[in-house]
Amino acid sequence: MSKRKKIAVLFSGKGSNFAHIVNTLHPQTYEVVVALTNNPHAEGVKVAQAASIPLEIIDSKAYESRETFDAEVVKCLKKYTPELTVLAGFMRILTPVFTEQIKSINLHPSLLPRHKGLNAIEKSFEDVHAYGGVSVHYVSAELDGGEVILQKKLAKEGLNFESYDAKVRSLEKEALVEAIRIVLD
Ligand code: GAR
Repeated sequence: MSKRKKIAVLFSGKGSNFAHIVNTLHPQTYEVVVALTNNPHAEGVKVAQAASIPLEIIDSKAYESRETFDAEVVKCLKKYTPELTVLAGFMRILTPVFTEQIKSINLHPSLLPRHKGLNAIEKSFEDVHAYGGVSVHYVSAELDGGEVILQKKLAKEGLNFESYDAKVRSLEKEALVEAIRIVLD
């Protein structure tokens, strides 16, 4: 019988980090047992389809409160019994309904606690610090606020916004896979 650990991946948009998980870890190292999105139009839907990974679409627009949406996500994830749920560009603030029942980690494109929330890459590039970077942390009910698992720094010197952005997007993929291994191994 297979001993591979099971992970769930949640995404809202392009899904490039989801695709990287699939390309580097699935199915040899860990099995992505479900991909779940709150956005029926997310490009990442194609990633799941191309890799034949079970896909669940729970449209957040159809729910009246964060709690009712979170309850539906929790119910759905529990069917797949993942050991770890990975938020890879899942752009939702989660409530205790989710965080108290699901062990999960989140990728964020800044050196937390700097620049929580949206547009973290832009804000990091424009701030006074010589370094930006990326973080992977456990998910808590505080937005981008749970315990940090790992961070990677990136020097801004000599970079324009486009080259900084490209480096962040590459670095975050490394960081996410490394953090998944740290948590599961
Ligand atoms: C990534 O840059 C990720 O770090 C960020 O959203 C992007 C998703 O890209 N996440 C956050 O800002 C979370 N607060 P992707 O859909 O191509 O993986």
